[in-house]
Amino acid sequence: MPLLFGCSSLAAEFGLLPIPASRPLMTQPPTHISEVRSRYIEFFERHGHQFVPSANLVPDNDDTLLFTNAGMVQFKDALLGQEQRPYRRAVTSQKCLRVSGKHNDLDEVGVSPRHHTFFEMLGNFSFGDYFKEQAIQFAWQLLVEEWALPLDRLWFSVYEDDDEAAQIWHAVGADPDRILQFDRKDNWWSMGETGPCGPCSEIHYFWGDLKDQHAAGVNRDDEYLEFWNLVFMQYDQITAQHREPLSHPGVDTGAGLERVASILQGCTNNYDTDGFLYLMDLVQQLADHTDAQRQEHMVAYRVIADHVRAIAFLISDGVLPGNEGHNYITRLILRRAARFGRALGFLEPFMARVVEGVVQGMGDHFQELRQREDMICATVTAEETRFLQTLNLGMGHLERVVQENRQRGTTTVTGTQSFLLWDTFGFPLDLTRDLAREEGMTVDVDEFQALAAQAKERSRQAMETAPLPRSPLYGELLRGLQESGTLDAGGVAQTVFDGSHSVRTTVLALIQEGAEVDRVEPGTAVEVVVATTPFYVEAGGQVGDTGWISAVAGGSGHLQVTHVFRPVPGLIVHSGSMQEGCLTVGGAVDCTIDEGRRQSIQRNHTATHLLHACLRRHLGQTVHQAGSLVAPDRLRFDFTFDRGLTHAEVAQVQADLQAAILVDSPVTATWEPYAEAVASGAMALFGEKYEEVVRVVRIGHGQAVSRELCGGMHVKSTAELGSIFIVGEGSSAAGQRRIEAVTGTAANQYVIAALDRLDKVASLLKTQPDTVAQSVQSLLAQNTRLRKEVQRSQRAQVQDHIDHLVENVQEFDGVPCVLQTVQAQGLEMMREMSDLIQDRLGQGVTALAADIEGKPVLVISVAKGLAGRGLHAGNLVKQAAPCIGGGGGGRQNIAQAGGQDVAGLSAALQEVASAISHCLVTAR
Ligand code: SER
Repeated sequence: MPLLFGCSSLAAEFGLLPIPASRPLMTQPPTHISEVRSRYIEFFERHGHQFVPSANLVPDNDDTLLFTNAGMVQFKDALLGQEQRPYRRAVTSQKCLRVSGKHNDLDEVGVSPRHHTFFEMLGNFSFGDYFKEQAIQFAWQLLVEEWALPLDRLWFSVYEDDDEAAQIWHAVGADPDRILQFDRKDNWWSMGETGPCGPCSEIHYFWGDLKDQHAAGVNRDDEYLEFWNLVFMQYDQITAQHREPLSHPGVDTGAGLERVASILQGCTNNYDTDGFLYLMDLVQQLADHTDAQRQEHMVAYRVIADHVRAIAFLISDGVLPGNEGHNYITRLILRRAARFGRALGFLEPFMARVVEGVVQGMGDHFQELRQREDMICATVTAEETRFLQTLNLGMGHLERVVQENRQRGTTTVTGTQSFLLWDTFGFPLDLTRDLAREEGMTVDVDEFQALAAQAKERSRQAMETAPLPRSPLYGELLRGLQESGTLDAGGVAQTVFDGSHSVRTTVLALIQEGAEVDRVEPGTAVEVVVATTPFYVEAGGQVGDTGWISAVAGGSGHLQVTHVFRPVPGLIVHSGSMQEGCLTVGGAVDCTIDEGRRQSIQRNHTATHLLHACLRRHLGQTVHQAGSLVAPDRLRFDFTFDRGLTHAEVAQVQADLQAAILVDSPVTATWEPYAEAVASGAMALFGEKYEEVVRVVRIGHGQAVSRELCGGMHVKSTAELGSIFIVGEGSSAAGQRRIEAVTGTAANQYVIAALDRLDKVASLLKTQPDTVAQSVQSLLAQNTRLRKEVQRSQRAQVQDHIDHLVENVQEFDGVPCVLQTVQAQGLEMMREMSDLIQDRLGQGVTALAADIEGKPVLVISVAKGLAGRGLHAGNLVKQAAPCIGGGGGGRQNIAQAGGQDVAGLSAALQEVASAISHCLVTAR
């Protein structure tokens, strides 16, 4: 069988496989990495698994994780039995990102053969369906029978207590000497400090010389590659100390696609597989490097290939470069890639070209890359440009550092200086060192390393996400309600889509201070679960409803609902305070939402869709929603765009929105298969996860104004918006803009308030609102005229004053001096006077003293030519300043002092006079 890529030293072995005679090789093993992915998926589909598309890189169901780091993340609730899915077996190729913590270290990427930031995890899952035996059989069948991996290179590890797993491996055909038992450190898998967990079994591949193999090398030496982990999920870890068995154990497996491809392609390094080679070829072409240059810079090539994949996927999943949280990671990875790019000689942005390569290579499977290619490229280039500018600024900074050091007579760039360059300007130490060397300087590397280590520790602490405490109460409550038949598998029913604002239903549970109770009394904070609710739970940017739950059938209980949330899928909890009477479990209640508030929210939601469509029409298709808040009083819409909108653009968008309202377009919602909806042009939001059948909200007929996948609440026709006003436009993050707008009543109030302000201004100007602009214009013109007049008259005054002062010139040893108390409005004026007097004196000295708003000020000027006669303005001021209870200083030609004691001004001038005499005598 021909191997297409990389090192084929092991290729020959694939033809000589020790497969059991009774089980003939069914197919050729896959070669290209994309074929490995599709064949894995196809194998498990053949065995009854539902293919589920990869979830977003940012988990939508888990606050304990920054990024999706395994295939099971999107199935966490299904594995715990808290969520019912329409299938019990699933197969995925999950986008994963690992950048810190126990799973990865950024500095290893590109250096080690196996480390990546972004990678794909192939996985097959059972949710209470098959367990250990079947999971092991599947793995064996795929690896040995279909893909013909050599048995004499495979090793199987199991948990120390799990004899059962060991026996199953033996039964399927593994050599007992190759089945090894390990403790918790190696063969126990848990998602984090809490969540599903259980014993696992790993499959390892030996890379070295066959005769060098030995059991002790597994889980220890690099030559044994762990590439597939089968986790037998049996428990839910509730807290660090407490875990509970799952009623229906399941299976979660994870195989690193890049690793599997490396085995099948006979490459000991993941970066030598076709998954990375084509990207490095592209980089080489862009850098115009020879093969030898590429070899010399191999780490940089690998880092760029890895990082650009990560950046493309992060941005397509909605994680734009920024300064905080997830967004910071995108920035960090992008800047790191840019720095390595600079080392290859890229002085201009180049990464968008590599992103295009990623889209070509992976866009068939990950359609989102293709759909958002333009936006990803534009975002990458904008960020890269900004970063290169920062680097250039850094160059300027380094030049200043070098100059400063030279002045101080040192040739060492300190650790603090080089750390600042690294931290603020993104300068790698090598770059600083190279540039410093050119200037004949060295860098204090030890101090730099110490500072860098401290910073790394700080960022590690910041990135390590602390698991949030998860109250087991809600999960147990839901399970209990479902097991007793009170709630069916779907959980609490919602009537949000049928438009009812009030439903009559039954109280299923009451919670107070973290515990279930049977009844609640007035004045207490409570949480209520009912069978059916009209309340919308915050989702897709739309805030949740508020309202009331009131007892019926003779009861008097009245609860004001201030917040609604869904702690686990299937359960909706209303929280608020008891206003009067009491509520009891089993009691009949009316659940009613605040209708007016809901209407305002609906208006803002429809307005958000209109705005989104309108921005894309006016500003182009690189506009994508990056965030949104739909509240009753306003809407806030963040979108990708790399510059501020002009006044004309904002006005145009606003006019367009107003026109859409006047047309009175209908707003309708339909349910459609996801693929069809997207194919027919409905906008899927950036970073959202969708079910197979999605709700499409349309504004307008036929060629709709807007079509978006959306599960939120809308008005029935655009006329209901009444009016819309953009009340703010600004930047929300790098490469992102934010628009705030109001509709309906809030829009009316906005206009009324604006008119009111205009009326007030008009009345102050004693004019009509229509002529306010002209009035202000003429006021401004008048103001400019008056200012000029004041300046003219001040100058004339100063001139008069000076004529008078110069008449009183004194001579000290032939040096003309004006030493006078003056009246001045400020220091500026004193300096101006002093300059004018000096001009008149030629080679003279002027000392002016003034009381400026109760504070004494002294300004002394000495002609430069008098330096040779020992006269120095700074020294004169220093001698005179104590007389006014202050201090001061300055240069030879000009100096000033301030103080506390106005009464000392004349004494200060006398002091100046005697100091001048003294100097002149001494200098003779
Ligand atoms: N969750 C396991 C892992 O990440 C198997 O998918 O290794």
